[in-house]
Amino acid sequence: METTDSSSWTRLIRNATLATCAEGKPYGLIPKGAVALAGNRIAWIGTKKNMPATLPKTCAVNDVRGALVTPGLIDCHTHMIWAGSRFREFEQRLQGASYEDIARAGGGIASTVTATRAASEADLLTLALARAAKYVAEGVTTIEIKSGYGLDKDNELKILRVARTLGKRLSLTVRTTLLAAHAVPPEFQGRADDYIKCICDEILPAAAAEGLADAVDAYCDNIGFTPAQVERVFAKATELKLAVKLHAEQFSNQQGAALAAKHKALSADHLEHLDKEGVQAMAVARTVAVLLPGAYAYLRETKLPPIEMLRVHRVPIAIASDLNPGSAPLASLQLNMHLACTQFGLTTEEALLGVTRHAARALGLRKERGTIERGKFADLVIWNAEHPAELAAQFGLIRPAVILREGAS
Ligand code: NIG
Ligand code: FE
Repeated sequence: METTDSSSWTRLIRNATLATCAEGKPYGLIPKGAVALAGNRIAWIGTKKNMPATLPKTCAVNDVRGALVTPGLIDCHTHMIWAGSRFREFEQRLQGASYEDIARAGGGIASTVTATRAASEADLLTLALARAAKYVAEGVTTIEIKSGYGLDKDNELKILRVARTLGKRLSLTVRTTLLAAHAVPPEFQGRADDYIKCICDEILPAAAAEGLADAVDAYCDNIGFTPAQVERVFAKATELKLAVKLHAEQFSNQQGAALAAKHKALSADHLEHLDKEGVQAMAVARTVAVLLPGAYAYLRETKLPPIEMLRVHRVPIAIASDLNPGSAPLASLQLNMHLACTQFGLTTEEALLGVTRHAARALGLRKERGTIERGKFADLVIWNAEHPAELAAQFGLIRPAVILREGAS
């Protein structure tokens, strides 16, 4: 029998209901499981039966008495840095106005841009820290943050800088995404192509030069940018060796998902209006489908994303909160897990994989995070729960007992 070398172990968590989220069994579940850490990495996964007889004296041992242990949760799509509030739009929509009506009348993203441009880096950080703290409290250890409320070089970079600082201030891995192609700013009104040129010539190169962007996103829709404009942004991003993702098929079908897949995008997000061609293209490119049920519910949409087709074609499905002031001011990933089940018909297992394994892939982190597997970062949550289905089945009740991020950055 193979003997386990435990000499490098620094911590052993035993007697856990281990939802590894790795491929194989549902939830990657190991009842009465154990996981050993060596510094900031996962060194071993097993059960009581194959645990080594002796451990190094310096190895801490935690008997978690059957508690659920999962990878740290990952929110792979947020717009968490903004100033101002759009509560009036919520009232308008309750009276019958649509998200698109409000945007075309000069409200929507444009109003958040005005408030965010006027805010200092320090003010934005204070606002965002309070929001991010809510995610940390519910077991999120990795979060993606997009720019997109600056829409000029200085303000887009300001937002990305705040995002980087946020990650250092909280025990949180932050991935930044440049979303300069979110809306046409007032100074380029009626000149969307000129703004795209400004993004490609100025904003993108500056963000890349300062190392502020891990990826590049765009908003492809009737009230956003055309596929041809998105393609120009993607070409520049690829030239700068930055990964791409896309807000696609939210209110209409622009063949955005297929465009994203053609550019080997990490993800295409929203996807209520996704069609078969888009699904097939995503399946081939292994582009993750990021579903945002909170935005769907908040905007009271009725067209569901084609979940069954995504399943049949084995497109990885991630779930994210899309936290933003306009379409999803709902600061909870766990709420989105719940809504993914109740609104979109996902299983509780799909909901958990959507905020772990598949969310990691959507951020280009699949080799480092998202599952409890040997060699990955020690990035775990021990919950006040006994079964992984509890995370999506309830809301506001399941909380981390301990978040373990041993020296992870
Ligand atoms: O992901 N649809 C575009 N972007 C955001 C909404 C941004 C806003 O309304 O401020 C979204 O839903
Ligand atoms: Fe979004």
